Amino acid sequence: MNGTRTVAGLALVAIASGVVAPLAMAHGDVQPQAVNTEGLKPLGDKMLEENPYRGDPKAIAVGFSAFTQNCARCHGLEAISGGLAPDLRYLELGKEGDTWFMERIQNGAMVNGVYKMPPFKTVFNQEAMWAIRSYLESRHED
Ligand code: HEC
Repeated sequence: MNGTRTVAGLALVAIASGVVAPLAMAHGDVQPQAVNTEGLKPLGDKMLEENPYRGDPKAIAVGFSAFTQNCARCHGLEAISGGLAPDLRYLELGKEGDTWFMERIQNGAMVNGVYKMPPFKTVFNQEAMWAIRSYLESRHED
């Protein structure tokens, strides 16, 4: 009478595969912080294709503040990534890099229906986005 006992219901706790989720949870729902773009040349509503502020010290300062408040929790302080999200110092410079930067900052990054990076298009005006781009260019490494 050797009945086979099946051990059922043993729940294995799977380790979450998303690298960003635990961080996002630890911080709760972090509200995006508005960016004060006063003093930057106004750009209007039509989205530009190339960074109009490249090298502008005021834009870099605004971008530093905006980045620190909205991006650093994933991409690292001073854009030095701890590995949770891409290291943005290595983003391509020039117009190609501008296009990719704008795609990501506006639309975020969705994987399997979950945002690994939230979209910022309803949070920032383009002045704020280009200011962050200018800051990242100032941190660029090859
Ligand atoms: C909740 C975490 C999180 C926040 C906050 C966040 N990002 Fe991201 N970001 C990511 C992740 C994860 C990726 C990689 C997505 C993928 O798999 O392609 C990414 C990708 C990017 C990329 C593309 C990088 C590449 O090499 O392809 C850019 C540019 C970027 N983020 C800019 C920003 C900026 C600017 C901010 C702040 C306004 C920001 N991100 C806020 C998590 C985040």
